[in-house]
Amino acid sequence: MRFLLITLFLTVVVSAKYLSNESCKECHEDIYHEYQSSMHSKSYFNDELHRKIANKVSDKRYECASCHMPMADNLKDLIDGKAKPDKNNITHTDAISCYFCHTIAYVKKAHKHFVNIKAKQIEGFKPSFYGTLKDVDHNDKHESLKNPIYTKNVCKGCHAYKKNDYNTTIFRAMKDDDSSESCIKCHMPKVKGGVENFDKKSRFFHKSHRFLGIHDAKFRQSGVDINISVKDHDIKVRLHNKMAHPLIVQPARVKYLELILIRDKKVIWRNFKIDPKEDQKIFFEYKFYDKNHNSIIIPSQAYGIKRANNLNAHESKDFIYHGIDLKKGDTVIATLYVRFAKRDCQKVVKLKDDIFKRSYIIKSVKKVIKR
Ligand code: HEC
Ligand code: HEC
Ligand code: HEC
Ligand code: HEC
Ligand code: HEC
Repeated sequence: MRFLLITLFLTVVVSAKYLSNESCKECHEDIYHEYQSSMHSKSYFNDELHRKIANKVSDKRYECASCHMPMADNLKDLIDGKAKPDKNNITHTDAISCYFCHTIAYVKKAHKHFVNIKAKQIEGFKPSFYGTLKDVDHNDKHESLKNPIYTKNVCKGCHAYKKNDYNTTIFRAMKDDDSSESCIKCHMPKVKGGVENFDKKSRFFHKSHRFLGIHDAKFRQSGVDINISVKDHDIKVRLHNKMAHPLIVQPARVKYLELILIRDKKVIWRNFKIDPKEDQKIFFEYKFYDKNHNSIIIPSQAYGIKRANNLNAHESKDFIYHGIDLKKGDTVIATLYVRFAKRDCQKVVKLKDDIFKRSYIIKSVKKVIKR
């Protein structure tokens, strides 16, 4: 009887075990390190911007968990305000974890956002992970299942869109029937190195898990084309969004274009004097209003969108500046910048990290006038 109880206890524990990110490192070391440097490894505990905004939204409920802490073993309690994020709970600190992403079976449309539906794992057996490799090597930690639906849906559950309690869309990066395959193409390029440490199939490449985005100086240059042309007294700048999503996805951010004209090493003209906001048409942002139509910073409390200046996926726009004194030999420089947390945002949450204190260059191009 005692023996039976012990084995029963063991089976339950084994089947309910969550496989941590750290546990994957034993065999998928390269992927693990890439992942650790990615935003997906950032959780409530080490993403200052997210934590501070989440605390402003509610000091009791952590509704953000469904996307920001999706593996939480007490997800419902976090959302309902019966539990708080706990830095000693691995299912909380693991953020958007390996185990979570690789067990997404499909996504379901819901009003506020898509919902990730996880594959049921059979008690007492090794978990099954979805992937795209053909003819995988067997291992003692998990089964591998090739699933074409997986790559179509894997990003959509969290990245497609989000609405708040007042039916205001906070962000939309994808259309409902967009496939995640395009996201994977740009954000998970093939890189050198095996899939697994003891690669018996001699696979020499794997899909990068760094998920580079706006935080990487080199990668972020690839999202837009900037073209300058001049005619008589006009400067025309064409901005083309090459990405499969709008230029602004995250409402905390702002992106803006600075144009300068240089003659004899001196700046003789600029499209704004001090604050890029002076030139509204090149100031890309999302602004919300509250129930009295006043501007509001925290999107969760918004009743609607006050201003949305954006460039849609694959859209181009021209910005023309008239009446400028242009001479042969002058140089026009156009630079697109990003601020990770716009100034308005800093008025409601105090951010310590230096990255929130300045603007970063996305891309800069120049043209010397020859005529
Ligand atoms: C539907 C899924 C979803 C929900 C729910 C959600 N988020 Fe997010 N959040 C995302 C995604 C996807 C990103 C990354 C893309 C982006 O930056 O918009 C993100 C990014 C962020 C960022 C930017 C982080 C950084 O360091 O730049 C902040 C801030 C944020 N979320 C706040 C919140 C807060 C606060 C809540 C809860 C009130 C919440 N989110 C709920 C999906 C979600
Ligand atoms: C004991 C070693 C080992 C551990 C630990 C391990 N894996 Fe694997 N994994 C493998 C091997 C071997 C393969 C097959 C690689 C191949 O065929 O090239 C694999 C393949 C995969 C694949 C690809 C599946 C496919 O069909 O495309 C995924 C996804 C995966 N592992 C995820 C994980 C995750 C997530 C963890 C941690 C929770 C993990 N693995 C832990 C050994 C391991
Ligand atoms: C479980 C929800 C979830 C899933 C699934 C998911 N993401 Fe994310 N992703 C997030 C959240 C949340 C963030 C922001 C994390 C933060 O900043 O704290 C994020 C951030 C990102 C970023 C921003 C990186 C940066 O530095 O700007 C990229 C790119 C990204 N995800 C791509 C993807 C792709 C591609 C997929 C599909 C293969 C995917 N994500 C699947 C939730 C998810
Ligand atoms: C043609 C390449 C390309 C495709 C396709 C693409 N992206 Fe991006 N994405 C980028 C680049 C480049 C950046 C960084 C530059 C920027 O944000 O201006 C970026 C930025 C992001 C960010 C960070 C936004 C922020 O401000 O935090 C997220 C999240 C993201 N992409 C998710 C996705 C998802 C989800 C898909 C699939 C619908 C996708 N991307 C498709 C190139 C691409
Ligand atoms: C945001 C979701 C997401 C997270 C988090 C994630 N993966 Fe993946 N992973 C994918 C997708 C999507 C693919 C398939 C890409 C493809 O083949 O097109 C993949 C592929 C793989 C593969 C197969 C390699 C290949 O080249 O196809 C392995 C192994 C793997 N992941 C392991 C891990 C491990 C280990 C972690 C954590 C350290 C992790 N993944 C975290 C989405 C994710």
